[in-house]
Amino acid sequence: MCGIVGYIGPRDAYPVLMKGLYRLEYRGYDSAGVALMDGNLKLYKTHGKVSDLENKIKNQDLSGTIGIAHTRWATHGEPNDVNAHPHFSHSRRLAIIHNGIIENYGSLKKELVNRGYVFKSKTDTEVLIHLIEDIQVNEKVDLVEAVRIALNHVIGAYAIVVVSQDDPDKLIAAKKGSPLVIGIGEKEFLIASDASPIVEYTKNVVYLDDEELAIIPRHGRIKIKTIKNKDKTPYIQQLEMQLSAIEKSGFPHFMLKEIYEQPRSIKDSMRGRLNSAKGIVSLGGIIDYEQKLMNCRRVLIVACGTSWHAGLVGEYLFEDLARIPVEVEYASEFRYRNPVIYEDDVVIAISQSGETADTLAAIELAKAKGATIIGICNVVGSSIARATHAGSYTHAGPEIGVASTKAFTAQVTILALMALSIANKKGTIPKTRFFQLLSEMDSIPAKVEKALEVNDTILEISKIFKDVRNFLYLGRGYNFPIALEGALKLKEISYIHAEGYPAAEMKHGPIALIDEEMPVVVIATKKGTYDKVVSNIQEVKARKGIIIAIVTEGDEVVRGMADYVIEIPETDEIFVPLVATIPLQLLSYHIAVMRGCNVDQPRNLAKSVTVE
Ligand code: G6P
Repeated sequence: MCGIVGYIGPRDAYPVLMKGLYRLEYRGYDSAGVALMDGNLKLYKTHGKVSDLENKIKNQDLSGTIGIAHTRWATHGEPNDVNAHPHFSHSRRLAIIHNGIIENYGSLKKELVNRGYVFKSKTDTEVLIHLIEDIQVNEKVDLVEAVRIALNHVIGAYAIVVVSQDDPDKLIAAKKGSPLVIGIGEKEFLIASDASPIVEYTKNVVYLDDEELAIIPRHGRIKIKTIKNKDKTPYIQQLEMQLSAIEKSGFPHFMLKEIYEQPRSIKDSMRGRLNSAKGIVSLGGIIDYEQKLMNCRRVLIVACGTSWHAGLVGEYLFEDLARIPVEVEYASEFRYRNPVIYEDDVVIAISQSGETADTLAAIELAKAKGATIIGICNVVGSSIARATHAGSYTHAGPEIGVASTKAFTAQVTILALMALSIANKKGTIPKTRFFQLLSEMDSIPAKVEKALEVNDTILEISKIFKDVRNFLYLGRGYNFPIALEGALKLKEISYIHAEGYPAAEMKHGPIALIDEEMPVVVIATKKGTYDKVVSNIQEVKARKGIIIAIVTEGDEVVRGMADYVIEIPETDEIFVPLVATIPLQLLSYHIAVMRGCNVDQPRNLAKSVTVE
């Protein structure tokens, strides 16, 4: 994780860098720092958030038209002033920012210590900047060459930017495993972990590939070479991101804005891919791989966090509609448990950021075994999107709140489109049902819009439950992953302990927890296993538990039993996850706000987890 940003050009670098850091703060926010050069290399840093840095240094000399800045999510060394980035080299003439992990930092550090280097911080990053300086001095090479040689000694992941007092008209950036984008403006360049700090200055960007190094001059063109010293031609792409998409647009938090964006983001994810009148579902990005999907031995879905929950919904969809066996795997487990992978397996990797280290590693493993890899990513040009054979982007737009909301529903939308397309081609569902499902899918954005109208009811319920210590979430069938996702959302942002469970499994354990203090959120929508879930509600009531039920509009049966009822529009069982997840997102949001939690940047979490 961590966010990095660099600037070189005619402007004052500091305001550009700070604005960039605020945009990247979702990637980590336990400490922050900036290095600016105006003759001398000045370095300021602090534990805490970007705003803490801004306050702390507001009376300092912040001049300079070249600089680098960093917002951190600690891996090596606790979040304090010293461990914050940037880090100086031994002579204090070089500074570095880094996102990633230098895995062999221990052995490198030992060598450097033996040669007399003194380390100030506990970070892996400081090793790299000392190493670069050591190579520069001892091998008598220029800075670019020193960085290149140093990176050949590094095992691990990095996106770095290096600045030198002796080279005031140049930034050097490099990446492997962590993301890095270079914006090419009018006589100026920006470097960042993603495009959000760049978009307001230029739409021309270059995404560095792994083991590439960019030399970014104050005047002239950028040069790219590999760390093996092979020259590359920069491939300039156009950003499609709009500035408004990364601002709060009047909402108090990004999370709330993103919850309310879902009617649009679901529609955008379907746009051009679904034509219900003609009975067409077509995902351009995977069209050449559909035969592989239809004929595969099984689908393996790999993902982490909320994306893993989307994967679970995918399992229900693919098995139910397309009759393809599916296994859903935590990428972090899959990569280390010597899994059986066949060449005729199709792996679907789901990731909002497209940068999750475990998911990326799972992909590489499956690829090495000959499986076909399809990606479902939100961030265009991300590492996972590029590592897959084919894929479909979710068109959710930038998601900035750390707790994933609109990316989740967009992922489920893509999975539903894929499953429907394959089911139709395989003939595993009757044509009439296929047409009926397509037309129902068309109505989902409007139903999600309607589901958002429960906001006031949820506000009232949140007031009642904001101080409880535990929550249980129950769902069955397609609603089981939604129970897991609802519980995760609450945990993430309100720090209330919450567990999601398949409703029927409650009697094998969690039922022991139920008493008059325990709120139980039950997703009890009509169809599917509705009757069974109603029985589970009765079991909870018999033990004096408090039921908050998510029900289909007009359901009087559950209304008669539950303590609180939240109605959502009726839809086909397979699309209920898209609608039922809305009230659960709102519930966690309001409870977190009422508890005074930092909704967009919950403690200890980060949006993009580029470390194991
Ligand atoms: C982090 C985020 C979650 C996200 C998970 C997977 O834990 O806080 O919101 O679901 O990573 O991220 P990905 O980008 O791969 O979907």
